[in-house]
Amino acid sequence: TNRTFTMIKPDAVENGHIGAILEKITAAGFRIVALKLTQMTVADAQEFYAVHSERPFFGELVEFMSRGPIVAAILEKENAVEDFRTLIGATNPADAAEGTIRKLYATSVGENAVHGSDSDENAAIEGVFHFSGREMF
Ligand code: GTP
Ligand code: MG
Repeated sequence: TNRTFTMIKPDAVENGHIGAILEKITAAGFRIVALKLTQMTVADAQEFYAVHSERPFFGELVEFMSRGPIVAAILEKENAVEDFRTLIGATNPADAAEGTIRKLYATSVGENAVHGSDSDENAAIEGVFHFSGREMF
């Protein structure tokens, strides 16, 4: 059993999809270890997405991710990182498989409804970015 980290991004929160997305996540067998509604500052988003700082879309990404509340969560399941990325689908919803969270709820490659960690190492770093030990169960 291992863990991944996710955010329901500002677009999906604005569009009223928190409940539906959490239902998809728990129905797929993920246990919620930590969960909260929060908002990233511009500085938080710059730090969280620092790996993308040289990409042309970085400014847009930071503005988007800090414009409103997100739902942050740590999730536990066997093979959590890979299985969660399968559940959310491709970065661009136009390429995402039927039934995936991004196919259902994302609106564009930038505003794509959910984040999923890309490695066990990043899952741990991203979880600690958003949660203290007392918020993990
Ligand atoms: P995350 O789970 O959010 O990390 O998405 P990902 O791993 O599928 O994609 P990646 O890490 O490559 O990109 C991070 C985020 O940057 C994406 O989820 C998008 O929100 C955003 N992004 C990626 N490509 C583009 C792009 O071409 N244009 C814009 N505006 N945003 C992009
Ligand atoms: Mg990524």
